[in-house]
Amino acid sequence: MSESFREISPADFFYRNRDLAGFNNPTRSMYSAIRELVENSLDACELYRIPPKIYVRLSYEENYEKRNVYRLKVADNGSGIPPEYIPSAFGQILYGSKYKLRQVRGTFGLGGKMAILYGQITTHSSAYIISSVGNNKIYEFEIRIDIQKNRPEILKKKFRSNRRKWHGTVVEFSLEGDYPKAMPKVLEYLRQTAMVNPYADITFVDPRGRLYMFEGVTKKMPKPPSEIEPHPYGCDVEIFMRMIDDSRSKSLQDFMTTHFHRVGKKTAKRFLKHVGISGRKNPKKLTPNEIVQLVQSMKPESFKYFLPPDANCLSPLSNELLEMGLQKDLNPEFVATEQRNPSAYSGYPFIVEIGIAYGGNTPNSPGITLYRFANKIPLLYDEASDVSRKVINNEINWNYYKVTQGTPVAVVVHICSTKVPYKTVGKEFIADRPEIEREIKNGINNVARRLSRYLSKKISIAYQKQRVNIFQKYLPKIAQFSTKLAGKKKIPNIEPLVRSMMHETKKT
Ligand SMILES: Nc1ncnc2c1ncn2[C@@H]1O[C@H](COP(=O)(O)OP(=O)(O)OP(=O)(O)O)[C@@H](O)[C@H]1O
Ligand SMILES: [Mg+2]
Repeated sequence: MSESFREISPADFFYRNRDLAGFNNPTRSMYSAIRELVENSLDACELYRIPPKIYVRLSYEENYEKRNVYRLKVADNGSGIPPEYIPSAFGQILYGSKYKLRQVRGTFGLGGKMAILYGQITTHSSAYIISSVGNNKIYEFEIRIDIQKNRPEILKKKFRSNRRKWHGTVVEFSLEGDYPKAMPKVLEYLRQTAMVNPYADITFVDPRGRLYMFEGVTKKMPKPPSEIEPHPYGCDVEIFMRMIDDSRSKSLQDFMTTHFHRVGKKTAKRFLKHVGISGRKNPKKLTPNEIVQLVQSMKPESFKYFLPPDANCLSPLSNELLEMGLQKDLNPEFVATEQRNPSAYSGYPFIVEIGIAYGGNTPNSPGITLYRFANKIPLLYDEASDVSRKVINNEINWNYYKVTQGTPVAVVVHICSTKVPYKTVGKEFIADRPEIEREIKNGINNVARRLSRYLSKKISIAYQKQRVNIFQKYLPKIAQFSTKLAGKKKIPNIEPLVRSMMHETKKT
């Protein structure tokens, strides 16, 4: 007996393994579809510093008796997509504009298409895309994904004039789902997205016509991320060979300084001397052995003089915006934030931002409430497997900071990086890289220390107040009693004494 062999396309692979991307059942798929489209919209605005205005509408599909088929529409005011790229951007798996070293939400070239593919396989319908880059034309496409070929099928294409120079994208399609079950996660997702993008206006209309508005509280936006070259510590043989193919450098010395992040003339010279290959050698003439030797030497254990990656290319939220987001959402009694210094893992720069909130509307759950974000995306599933939960539960001595069971405390952990180490393409939880873990731990310890100072003060004020209350209650009686005992008539005035004690309390 012989086995039959065949090849499948990437679309076919993800069609068969939908759960890898978060499309495993009608509830989760509904959440994932909304999330992927909202994230594409946010990217399309933020990269061009456009304050995002995103409209999400989910409605029951007409003519369906069983109410499990919905129509989803997501519209944004982002950059728009040039018409020649629209079909592939929405109809070809693993096609995208974000395969660069840059901090964006999208990474895999998969999310939006998985949503459309899921819609197609559950309702047998096509997707509508309307988009304009802000010139004089608006394009409309109706497409389907040819799963076996991994190609878009264009069913309709037309354009109309764009007198108002509108720019943005509208994506609309039908999908099977279970909104009543998905609702808590969808609303939580939108709420947390608004928390970490406090400059975005997000409107959501649910199938029963209920309107949810998450309005921006500031016009200030973080500076957009810039693109960087790979850092030597993150390089492997494949990347190195592709770089040689694309390069016009005639010497290895020039190749190293042009194509690697933070490699200047001096470092390149020192490195090449360390490896023992001449800087004058043409990179295209390197032998396979020399390539392997070069790449193997680009590890911190072998050559430790490469400067760490520059985090200027990242776009963290900033202490100010994170605090605004927390204030807006939780209206806490106390809030502290800390942006950690830039750091790097395997040649990828990252910045960790931490926030802590106490009181106000902060949930009073048994453990510490954790809000996790990566490149400004809320992560709502698989919290137990995430590095931040591990740090909070196992590595912080909360009692030391006066936080005990039932203290209403929430911690925010935001990781920004040109490459977030997600454990799956569903982008739900982050691997525990020691460098990242260390930054999270130090950051939480610092904000928790500030919270503990606030709590100590609060406890001491409460104690003083209680003391003054007792004095206020009993001092008149003591004064009266001692006057009588001393055989005097005039009761001394105790007001100045109480006033001075109140003053002391205020000072603490
Ligand atoms: N609303 C939008 N506005 C502008 N461009 C968009 C929009 N939605 C998608 N795109 C373009 O389509 C491409 C594919 O989107 P898709 O969500 O499939 O992948 P991705 O965002 O690149 O990666 P990920 O799989 O991580 O989401 C994007 O890279 C982007 O160039
Ligand atoms: Mg995407």
